[in-house]
Amino acid sequence: MASNDIGIDLGTTKVMIYREDEGIVVNEPSVVAYDAESGTPIAFGQKAFEMVGKTHKNIVAEYPLKDGVISNYTLTKEMVKYFINKSYDSKVVKPKVSICVPSAVTGIEENAVVDAAISSGARQVLIIEEPIAAAIGAGLDIMKANGNMIVDIGGGTTDIAVISLGGIVCSKSIKLAGNAIDKEIVKLLKNKYNFLVGQKTAQQLKHAVADCMPTEENNRYFEVKGINLLRGLPGKLNVSTFDLQPVITPVLEEYVAAVKNVLEITPPELSGDIYENGILLTGAGAKIANLDRYFEQYLKCKVVVAENCEQCVAIGTGKAFALEGRLESGFRDVTPGLSKK
Ligand SMILES: Nc1ncnc2c1ncn2[C@@H]1O[C@H](COP(=O)(O)OP(=O)(O)OP(=O)(O)O)[C@@H](O)[C@H]1O
Ligand SMILES: [Mg+2]
Repeated sequence: MASNDIGIDLGTTKVMIYREDEGIVVNEPSVVAYDAESGTPIAFGQKAFEMVGKTHKNIVAEYPLKDGVISNYTLTKEMVKYFINKSYDSKVVKPKVSICVPSAVTGIEENAVVDAAISSGARQVLIIEEPIAAAIGAGLDIMKANGNMIVDIGGGTTDIAVISLGGIVCSKSIKLAGNAIDKEIVKLLKNKYNFLVGQKTAQQLKHAVADCMPTEENNRYFEVKGINLLRGLPGKLNVSTFDLQPVITPVLEEYVAAVKNVLEITPPELSGDIYENGILLTGAGAKIANLDRYFEQYLKCKVVVAENCEQCVAIGTGKAFALEGRLESGFRDVTPGLSKK
């Protein structure tokens, strides 16, 4: 990887950009704020995120990627251009750009991202699949004849893959991850406690108290502010770890079912490796407390949350350049004009 080359994790929740010489150079929410009438972008990233839920009718602040797909092409392109231009020195040679897009994006959506990278000055664009990037970023040697299972839990999607000899052997992606929990928390507080909060507040609450294996000892409380629907007035509500359990458990059950689906179709020799190596969790969604222990209880094998789990994909997008031409799958050159594999 030359020093000007960049790896981009274009996530549903966050955009992270990695450069070999400087490490993570962008780590911001994937949000764009724009003028409602003209559609002209006003702010990107953190600045736009601060506006979410607080705008007047002339400004819209939204996530252009939702549930693992690109829901607004134009805004996604503008956002990608903004962050790429922020990340490299245009006076030096044009960069190679490696991008991890959410696994459910279609070819047309992917083309929009590639166009944005080219118009920002990229001389070559490569698309990398999320589990491959996550494995490389977590420091696994994926070129060996040794099976590793990666479970990347993001905001919009959970990607599960078994990787061996530089390729994906079997995989599954579900459109269920951290953001689904936030939506369910909003519904729970409204229906059970007659209390209305925004999704941002629901996320803060989840980060503060959610736990996959709650006990009396680790039960925590967090005060949320919103609208008391019975009074129709602003108010606050104290919510505990146990209060959230009705929405956390169903999501965890779906995670486990999806991982089991992949384990069931994994060739036996690789299953043996996974049993030895354990399952590696990446993505910021893996930060929910005690997820590793929950998985271990139901999957009966070792489960480890990667160090810096939220950065693995971004680091892997950058480090993957070193494996260019050697990976069997999951890393494609999509530079316009080149024949696509
Ligand atoms: N401490 C925490 N506890 C629980 N969840 C967390 C924590 N920190 C972050 N998350 C959740 O992680 C999710 C975002 O993960 P990540 O940044 O990996 O997503 P992404 O890469 O943008 O999304 P995707 O890969 O689905 O496109 C959010 O739902 C966020 O609430
Ligand atoms: Mg991700």
